[in-house]
Amino acid sequence: MTSRIVTIAQSKGGAGKTTLAVQLATAMLAAGEEVCVIDVDPQGSLSRWFEERQRRRDPADRLALVKTGGWRLGVELGRVVRDFSTVVVDTPPHAGTELKATIREASLVLVPCQPSPLDVWASRPTLEIAAKEGRPIRFLMNRVPPRGRSIEEAQGALAQLGAVPLEAVLGNRQSYVAAMARGLGVLEHEPRGTAAQEVAQLCREVTSITRSGGARTA
Ligand SMILES: Nc1ncnc2c1ncn2[C@@H]1O[C@H](COP(=O)(O)OP(=O)(O)OP(=O)(O)O)[C@@H](O)[C@H]1O
Ligand SMILES: [Mg+2]
Repeated sequence: MTSRIVTIAQSKGGAGKTTLAVQLATAMLAAGEEVCVIDVDPQGSLSRWFEERQRRRDPADRLALVKTGGWRLGVELGRVVRDFSTVVVDTPPHAGTELKATIREASLVLVPCQPSPLDVWASRPTLEIAAKEGRPIRFLMNRVPPRGRSIEEAQGALAQLGAVPLEAVLGNRQSYVAAMARGLGVLEHEPRGTAAQEVAQLCREVTSITRSGGARTA
């Protein structure tokens, strides 16, 4: 099977990695992909969300989760690439060896970045690892307020680092928080909402970027 591996990475804690992993995975699932999410973060936030999802006991749900780390990571990645068409990896907020391993295998590295200098500055290690490993990388502006200059300023600062933003942005919306609490993505929680439109755009862009190169054949 030809798989895309999307690694979500950002050294800044709370930037939106797990939120982005959940939204991308559920959108890819809705688009008909066979999706596995991998939780590499010892905090286990993604696994906790998945538990909530399973409590709904929807037997038709095809989303799979693997919680892994350490020496098992490489083995598990090799296994899921054979079984799933899309793999979304949620990583911890620091640049350890596992981060390097998941970036090395990525078809695309996605970096959530809030419109704040702190998030921009914290993006540098991820950019450096992706450049060293020769993997494509894109930024996603997250928790963007409805108005203000902060997004242009952050995008300008990212451009100085050589970072390329996606056209999709995620607004600062309660819908993302509410969907998370229910073990859902916003496309499932509020399919006609603005957040769902944002995530649909995100999904289209990621599909297009990973189609034009970088997908892995097992
Ligand atoms: N677009 C958004 N709108 C509203 N709230 C958001 C949005 N994105 C993230 N959040 C909230 O921000 C907080 C941090 O998000 P999240 O846990 O996804 O970040 P993280 O990068 O995975 O954090 P960590 O580094 O601790 O793993 C959470 O409470 C989440 O619900
Ligand atoms: Mg997280």
